[in-house]
Amino acid sequence: MEWGMKNRMAQLIKPDGHCFFMPIDHGYFQGPTSQLEKPGETVQPLLPYADALFVTRGVLRACIDPSNSLPIILRVSGGTSMVGADLANEVITTSIEEILRLNAAAVGISVFIGTDYEKQTLMNLSNLVNDCEEYGIPVMAVTAVGKELEKRDARYLGLCSRICAELGARVVKTYWCENFEKVAQGCPVPVVIAGGPKCETVLQVFEFVYDGMQRGAIGVNLGRNVWQSEHPVGVARGLQAIIHEKATPMQANELFNDIKHGKA
Ligand code: 5RP
Repeated sequence: MEWGMKNRMAQLIKPDGHCFFMPIDHGYFQGPTSQLEKPGETVQPLLPYADALFVTRGVLRACIDPSNSLPIILRVSGGTSMVGADLANEVITTSIEEILRLNAAAVGISVFIGTDYEKQTLMNLSNLVNDCEEYGIPVMAVTAVGKELEKRDARYLGLCSRICAELGARVVKTYWCENFEKVAQGCPVPVVIAGGPKCETVLQVFEFVYDGMQRGAIGVNLGRNVWQSEHPVGVARGLQAIIHEKATPMQANELFNDIKHGKA
């Protein structure tokens, strides 16, 4: 690996081999998502706990302080919306010049495997890898399911993750599922877990993240379950403890409760 690629990967994945990415990119197809109406204000108290931000260029420019930022994973696919014909019909939205100008540590792009736009989105990934590898910029592939959340099982996510790695992604972001080791073991590059819609309890979040990491994930890219919580700092602190301090879900929950009750 070239120095630049190694250096960018090291900004994202900490010396313990783990990572906590904080996505605030949801507006690119959902508009002003609940609790993310003002992304800069939402994310500010969470910065001490996360290792990188996943964000579009527009929110980056408008809401993130360039002199006090975490490493940036730039969301570079889009062109669709929740109210449009098909969320899968994505294109690459951001040029390589812009990626370089914004000093991205990595870029992120969705693929929609098994949809009418499978080939288009896989070619988006391949073309982005071709451009980004030229400059030592890692590509994180996102195995997206759009509105079809029921697709999230080990067979489907394992297939998607492996295809993304084969096409050159340096990191794959996929969903947690039962038997997550089947996803992680079949993917030759690091896998991080996305969150999905908000869980009923914070303990459930800690449990699926812990389970995924025990089964081979290196960390998370988890947004709504953090910043849609009534106590986002508590969730972020609990996740940081699972990811970087080997905490169990119960220990993370205690940290969460301490922060919730003002004891920490
Ligand atoms: C949405 C994304 C998000 O980065 C991803 O879904 C993770 O966020 P959440 O934990 O809220 O699901 O790719 O565009």
